[in-house]
Amino acid sequence: MKHIVVLTGAGMSAESGIATFRDSGGLWEQHAVEDVATPEGFARNPKLVLDFYNARRRAAFAAVPNQGHIGLADMEKDYKVSIITQNVDDLHERAGSTSVLHLHGELNKMRSTVDPSLIYTLTADNPEIHLGDKCEKGSQLRPHIVWFGEAVPMIEDAIRIVRKADVLVVIGTSLNVYPAAGLLGYAPSGIPVYLIDPNDVKAYQPEIHFIKKGASEGVGELRRLLDSSCKK
Ligand code: OAD
Repeated sequence: MKHIVVLTGAGMSAESGIATFRDSGGLWEQHAVEDVATPEGFARNPKLVLDFYNARRRAAFAAVPNQGHIGLADMEKDYKVSIITQNVDDLHERAGSTSVLHLHGELNKMRSTVDPSLIYTLTADNPEIHLGDKCEKGSQLRPHIVWFGEAVPMIEDAIRIVRKADVLVVIGTSLNVYPAAGLLGYAPSGIPVYLIDPNDVKAYQPEIHFIKKGASEGVGELRRLLDSSCKK
């Protein structure tokens, strides 16, 4: 079975109604990154940060996977599919994908501010973290999100996966944020690389096959291309 490695970003979930970051009207037009997505911002005003992620978490719980997520999950019938996502929603998992690595954390989890190994799951019935919510060691809980300026603990695992790809697919990411964007450079040389995005994306990679469409339509086209060109 061919191993298809898929790197996804915010555009993957756009058709599920979850805002992207850098498009017009995106999240970073409405919020200052340094206030809501850095450890310094959390130290300055933890309530602002908790409220920001509480709102995003409620939106993510209310969202449903789109045809793009569903199409990728369906590809597991014929291909080995590994998803590496920058997204903090769980729409890939809810669509049925079984191998999903979250590079930037997960919205439906929270963790201790003194012991990062203490991770707890939030549910749709209890989706918020408040000031004063504490871990079993008595420290404030924070979102299980990788903020700017923090290490990306899953990057080595992601590199290992990309190195084993037979086909690399990039969907809905502006490739502005490293080290995620640098993953393309670890693909074995000469493998097919597809990039699905309705807008132009600068990717410093030779021979990318651009599919200039939204995620749902783009994944449909990808499937047809793979089925016609790949020996399974
Ligand atoms: P961006 O907001 O930077 O890029 C979103 C991409 O999705 C753009 O290239 C859009 O053209 C594309 N897009 C829009 N609608 C789409 C659709 N329907 N189908 C497919 N693509 C579509 O988001 P990311 O690249 O994911 O990190 O951002 C990377 C990281 O920056 C995020 O994980 C987040 C952010 O700051 C942290 O918070 C740590």
